[in-house]
Amino acid sequence: MAHWRLAITSQILGLCLFVGNASAELPQLVSHNGVEQLHVEGAPFLILGGELGNSSASNRQQLQPHWETFQTLGINTILAPINWEMIEPSEGNFDFSSLDWLIEDAREHDIKLVILWFGSWKNSMSSYVPAWVKRDWKRFPRVQTADGNATEILSAFSDTNVNTDANAYAAMMKHLKMVDAEQNTVIMVQVENEIGMLPDAREHGPIAEKTWAGNVPQQLIEHLIANEDALTPEVRKIWTTHGKKTAGSWADVFGKTPAAEEIFTAWHYAIYADKVAKAGKSEYNLPMYVNAALDRPNVLPGKYPSGGPLPHLLDIWKAGAPNIDFLAPDIYYPNYVERVSEYVRPGNALFIPEANRAGRIESGPDLLYSIGELDAIGYSPFAIDSIEDSENEPLGQAYKMLSDLAPHILELQGTDHLRAFRPTSNYEGELDLSDRTAIFGDYEFTISFGSPWRDKSEQSPSAYGVMIIQTDDEEFYIAGRGVTVKFKSLNTDGSIAGIESAIDGEFIEGEWKAGRWFNGDQTHQGRHILLDTEKYSIQKVKLYTYQ
Ligand code: DGJ
Repeated sequence: MAHWRLAITSQILGLCLFVGNASAELPQLVSHNGVEQLHVEGAPFLILGGELGNSSASNRQQLQPHWETFQTLGINTILAPINWEMIEPSEGNFDFSSLDWLIEDAREHDIKLVILWFGSWKNSMSSYVPAWVKRDWKRFPRVQTADGNATEILSAFSDTNVNTDANAYAAMMKHLKMVDAEQNTVIMVQVENEIGMLPDAREHGPIAEKTWAGNVPQQLIEHLIANEDALTPEVRKIWTTHGKKTAGSWADVFGKTPAAEEIFTAWHYAIYADKVAKAGKSEYNLPMYVNAALDRPNVLPGKYPSGGPLPHLLDIWKAGAPNIDFLAPDIYYPNYVERVSEYVRPGNALFIPEANRAGRIESGPDLLYSIGELDAIGYSPFAIDSIEDSENEPLGQAYKMLSDLAPHILELQGTDHLRAFRPTSNYEGELDLSDRTAIFGDYEFTISFGSPWRDKSEQSPSAYGVMIIQTDDEEFYIAGRGVTVKFKSLNTDGSIAGIESAIDGEFIEGEWKAGRWFNGDQTHQGRHILLDTEKYSIQKVKLYTYQ
């Protein structure tokens, strides 16, 4: 048997000593074992996050009491909107006080920030643009719908719109550099929020119509040609069906369907967001991403926000927005595993800025799965300030557990020594509770959801999930809630797997502190590992074989 043992690098240990000191290294994405990780202060970092409600960061006093709750929940990063209307109340005059106090309060509570730039678009609409933009609709043109109506959505086809947004965004990034380049309280920035066209698949104003009739930009065609074999199936199919043309109008190259119109919209949103991001990065180069309001099955683009950074449009966004570091899903549907997996693409760091609303029992398993199975850089439910009973919130227990295990997790992301499992759900919310198997070296694990000793009707399988961390050939941390794990030896010599020891415990200041030695009823006399169904816990397990 080839010997394998986890060695935690000094860089990862640096994370355990993370105390918020000044650092010369800016937050950045770094590839590790083939997956993208976020480095903060020179060490890999897991975002155990929460996004504020939309209006919660607009008043310092009202947000004040929530910071302690965030700390109790074990949150290390808050995602907070910064509104264009508040930072540029009159054109060219900036007031960054809403950003400054946010940073001050976050620092005081040892919490990092991801800033959400609510600029031209927030959930498709343009309600966060300053009053001087709203009122001057001649200078800042709006989207015109197919039936000729005006909307409160800035047109993506106006240089004035994009330049004015980019100018404000760049001013914010410049200010951020001035006040935060030393301490790196702000670790990433989201450019706009849930960009996507409603109620049609594309815009219909005069410039939009002219552009639709014009040629597909060469930059996009070149991306299609260069990445032909790796294109998303949807884009490849549309391009191929229309003869894989290397020049022509949008309708020539992609057809006249809503799907073609959505590609057109995605391209123009991507180049707009890219221009804003580029202007910001030229002032202060933090990782920047865009988030998507996901499409719904059997619904046409425009009925869901068309052209956003959706999985089937990934190529269009990558080609049009090289300054956007990654695309991120906001997941409010029950088929979490299916939807989050669509964003696992080479070179696309996985981050879930809005993992449904905070306070759901599914959050813990969603978190474990994202970080442990899909190598996410972080996880964050929406409206975190709506949580009142932070002491008893299951997500808090899961965050505490992952924060303890972070050095192991960060070292092993991208390898087979880190896995996670949870019951899956379809779009209708029906759970698949079938057993899962995983192979760790010479052992096969079978994971069942729930406790065999408790009546099924008393159990909550949606709250169950497990992360398995292999630290040596026969040593594992099995961490989570409500799972039973059995073992089989894969040795061909007929050997049988047994549990040498199972010890529950916790980490105190980075050191494993053993609790009880589990045996007897707790391991079914050596037959299985069972994680408590009511709370998150960790067991350190050692296996052996006999004949
Ligand atoms: C998704 C948006 O991105 C959030 O800002 C918020 O509006 C939520 N929807 C509400 O569910």
